[in-house]
Amino acid sequence: MGLSTLKKTILYCGILLHLLPFLPCFSNGFSLPSNFLFGIGSSSYQYEGAYMSDGKGQSNWDNFTHGPGRYVIIDGSNGDIAVDHYHRYLEDIDLMEALKVNSYKLSLSWSRILPKGRFGKVNRAGINFYNTLIDALLLKGIQPFVVLSHYDSPQELEDRYGGWLSPQSKEDFAFYADLCFRSFGDRVKYWVTFNEPNYLVVTVPAYIRRPVALAHWQCYHAKEGTQKGNHS
Ligand SMILES: *[C@@H]1O[C@H](CO)[C@@H](O)[C@H](O)[C@H]1NC(C)=O
Repeated sequence: MGLSTLKKTILYCGILLHLLPFLPCFSNGFSLPSNFLFGIGSSSYQYEGAYMSDGKGQSNWDNFTHGPGRYVIIDGSNGDIAVDHYHRYLEDIDLMEALKVNSYKLSLSWSRILPKGRFGKVNRAGINFYNTLIDALLLKGIQPFVVLSHYDSPQELEDRYGGWLSPQSKEDFAFYADLCFRSFGDRVKYWVTFNEPNYLVVTVPAYIRRPVALAHWQCYHAKEGTQKGNHS
């Protein structure tokens, strides 16, 4: 027993729709337009590892995967080391060069930059890591697409007010976003506030969506402010 005809039709239509934007490439001997950004992506918790290195604070995911008796990941694995991108980013960039990609979507670890959110100090080692990474990417002609929040945030914010459950989270997000824009905005041209907001809309309750939407809004205005500041 396979899929019903209706399901098959929907599946094939879906695949065809995703291929539509590539039609011009097929008619062009499979070459992409010169301004086409072809890239790969990662996220801090899934890639970096180094979960307590160089002054990084604990994130909600560190807490979640280390919690006793919680089987969040069936075999008990976690992102403490992951693919060790924090230490092996130069090798990873060489692989990107070999793949001939010209863009890389990465996310910043909020707790690496601000171990205790706006309630503690800026971790200069965290800022330095992303500065070095961004410079190394640009040196190879790879445009960084920087996501500010890919589901990981400082555990401090969870402990203080329940993280995204509280409207206070938008103040922390704006503080963090502003610091990132000022630290990396001279080289990073493409910013994303939250990873996959479409899934957020479908999968999380409204009381979490609201602070996230407000945080996005506040951050958008912060960015406008920073840009005006830079231009004046
Ligand atoms: C996770 O956070 C809670 C609340 O602060 C704390 O009680 C718990 O010890 C933490 N778990 C780990 C494994 O750090």
